[in-house]
Amino acid sequence: MSAGSDASPITRRAPEGVRDHIALGMVRFMRVFADLFFRKRYSHRAVVLETVAAVPGMVGGLLQHLKCLRHICEDQGWIRELLDEAENERMHLMTFIHIAKPSGLERALIMIAQAIFYNAYFFLYLFAPRTAHRFVAYLEEEAVVSYTQFLEAIDAGRIENVAAPGIAREYWTLPASARLRDVVIEVRADEARHRDTNHAFADTLTRPRPADGAAQAGTRA
Ligand SMILES: [Fe+2]
Ligand SMILES: [Fe+2]
Repeated sequence: MSAGSDASPITRRAPEGVRDHIALGMVRFMRVFADLFFRKRYSHRAVVLETVAAVPGMVGGLLQHLKCLRHICEDQGWIRELLDEAENERMHLMTFIHIAKPSGLERALIMIAQAIFYNAYFFLYLFAPRTAHRFVAYLEEEAVVSYTQFLEAIDAGRIENVAAPGIAREYWTLPASARLRDVVIEVRADEARHRDTNHAFADTLTRPRPADGAAQAGTRA
């Protein structure tokens, strides 16, 4: 976790090559559905999307772990980073569940989305880990935009700036006076960090370092 700030951390990275364009296309496709379904219900959007966002880190961590066992190689810290990302995303979910309770329809959507997304991402990571990390990085770019819009809605008074849930104050070590706005700033900072980490992982898989590339996690099939 990194301390969040009011400064907008929105960045867009231009795709390079066919695989990056495919990854970006998948994210834009998913964003269309999210926009249509949730519109400006940001807290409900956060609950459902965090159930999806918590999947890639666990899948990537598992597959990197298995790869290291197969190739008897160092993981270069990738596994811990990916599992931390999954836990961090789960804490986002546990926080927003205190702000917005999902409806029956949203719970059904969560189950369907997990069944499809887990399997699709597993095979994407298995056969194309670079594209998988780039896909997550672009997904996180969108998450930063969504949480920035969430903040704008709070500032405009369209969403009540309620007291921060206790679980969030504890996790981000926020003061007792913390509000929802403070929590969203922290979550957005987490998403920006996931974005940068996953772009860096994809870059490493694109340009493995020649000196240790043979023993590096993620660089061997
Ligand atoms: Fe998240
Ligand atoms: Fe994230």
